[in-house]
Amino acid sequence: MLIREPRLADEAAVRKLLGRVEFTGPDDAEEIACLAARNHRLDPACGVRGAWVAEARRGDVVAVVAAAPPLGWVGSIKYMSPEHRSWVVNQVVDIEALSVAPEAGGRRLGHRLIERASAYYRGLGYRLMMGTFTTSSPFLTAYYRQAGFTVLEPGESIVIYDPLGMALHRPSAPHVVQGWKALHPDVAVVDTYLPDGTPIKLITEVLVPQDGEPEAVLNDDGTLTLKKDGASHTFEAETADKMRQMFQTPVTQQEVAAIAEEAARYGIEPVVAARLRKASGYSLRELVGTYSH
Ligand SMILES: CC(C)(COP(=O)(O)OP(=O)(O)OC[C@H]1O[C@@H](n2cnc3c(N)ncnc32)[C@H](O)[C@@H]1OP(=O)(O)O)[C@@H](O)C(=O)NCCC(=O)NCCS
Repeated sequence: MLIREPRLADEAAVRKLLGRVEFTGPDDAEEIACLAARNHRLDPACGVRGAWVAEARRGDVVAVVAAAPPLGWVGSIKYMSPEHRSWVVNQVVDIEALSVAPEAGGRRLGHRLIERASAYYRGLGYRLMMGTFTTSSPFLTAYYRQAGFTVLEPGESIVIYDPLGMALHRPSAPHVVQGWKALHPDVAVVDTYLPDGTPIKLITEVLVPQDGEPEAVLNDDGTLTLKKDGASHTFEAETADKMRQMFQTPVTQQEVAAIAEEAARYGIEPVVAARLRKASGYSLRELVGTYSH
């Protein structure tokens, strides 16, 4: 069995395979088949699409997997800046569809396709793969677990720790089951609580600074050195302390939403604005006024 990227001539076969998938979102077989067969590339700011097919010895395409960054979900989170969205969709990818023809079934071909997709995205620096299915196919729980996924309860949200906004929740409908798979060894789960006391499992080390980010070193005397491309800048201890305090101040989505409009006026990222406000105790106006002197 040959696993390769799709070609234009595969479109009809891919469409037929995808016709067997019960989609959980607005995606549909026609559109995904069309994008997959054309190896459609997204703007890099939107992350990377990928698709692979399995070709049997006779040349028939008998299985397909299609993966894409979760653009719809990330786009629905109102407080995110375009840069923040771009950061997420370059580290988190979704399995949009997986299908194996009945005549090729029984050999876990789907697992091989998921493995191919995982290796590709891992190589690109992606850290988390997500997948969804409906409760009408309960066997998929065991199937995805065997493929290395942590499968949640029906209706349970995926919650990813976001250093810029505390947590990103991907909700799911009651009949939808979500699962996730780490593509990086550092990805871990932390048991914690929402501000209202609800326990949640937070997936951490998914959203991390990319190669282009400066390296931050906290020195013994409390000063903070940021280094990038051979250049470095050291902040005095008091400033470093304030920065640390700000970044350690958790903010809720409500706090971010409440400040979003004002933050936009000053050109400040809403999450950062909410943290600044909370950590300092000052209003944005007072803070901006202070900094502009
Ligand atoms: C899910 C799917 C890709 C698995 O194909 P595969 O990799 O070839 O897997 P296998 O055929 O080797 O089967 C895996 C297991 O699932 C079971 N299974 C497969 N289809 C099943 C069905 N319709 N009902 C119940 N169990 C089923 C198999 O019996 C096997 O069980 P086992 O662990 O006891 O041996 C394939 O069944 C399919 O294309 N289904 C329709 C589309 C779909 O649901 N896609 C997944 C969501 S995007």
